[in-house]
Amino acid sequence: MKALLVANWKMNLSLAKATILAGALRDFVNSSRMLTKDKKLAVAPSAVMMGDVRQALIGSGIRLAGQNCSANEAGAYTGEVSAESLLEYGCDYVILGHSERRKYHMETSEEVSKKSEAALKNKLTPIICIGESAEDRKNGFVIERITKELNLSLPNVLYDATSIVIAYEPIWAIGSGRVPSIEEIREIMELIAHIARRKFSFRLGEVTILYGGSVTPENSRDILKIPGVGGLLIGGASIIYEQLVQIIELAFKEDAALT
Ligand code: PGA
Repeated sequence: MKALLVANWKMNLSLAKATILAGALRDFVNSSRMLTKDKKLAVAPSAVMMGDVRQALIGSGIRLAGQNCSANEAGAYTGEVSAESLLEYGCDYVILGHSERRKYHMETSEEVSKKSEAALKNKLTPIICIGESAEDRKNGFVIERITKELNLSLPNVLYDATSIVIAYEPIWAIGSGRVPSIEEIREIMELIAHIARRKFSFRLGEVTILYGGSVTPENSRDILKIPGVGGLLIGGASIIYEQLVQIIELAFKEDAALT
């Protein structure tokens, strides 16, 4: 079972709490030896905490992810963080096009596509987020919304399926305690895989697709069992040590439990 778990800490945790949590996670994965080449965990702290969290994670194999990056290389872009500087801080991934960025910072899919190209140029794996709103769902526009948003958000050129990750995060599920049905998630996983295949001629199953939105220790096992789900993007539960550790154990401990 291959899986990628991404802990999206958003703008939560003080510096002290973030470094304590990172240190506890380091100790946990070091003693449980659960991470492998195919079982990866990444944490996405706020950009200003990247250096301290990196320090706390040394020797653990836990990866770092940015929560956003600029589409521009460098220059007069006050308040922005470049993909290059995330790389310098040791990041492997960058979350792009999260619905909170689309909502509060008016990020468009075209910008997300440009950002993903900046990330790829700097050897970061973009985690491209897409997802429908409650209104899309009510009006039966889920397929249209996902198809359009994903096509526009993907980079224009891509040679290697393993160099991107796509995260399906229904907006209405984020932080709400509600999740789509197993069947709904399965259908969207299939749709996303087909779109990626059509755009880049990848084989089905080659691109890692995450599910995100109200992931908890209670629902993560069932979600990970859904065909096409290659891992989880975890928000609220990822800032609570006990919950995150439970999810890591469910995902990585016994392959048998997931088959
Ligand atoms: P949530 O957040 O797990 O708190 O719903 C997920 C996300 O926004 O990435």
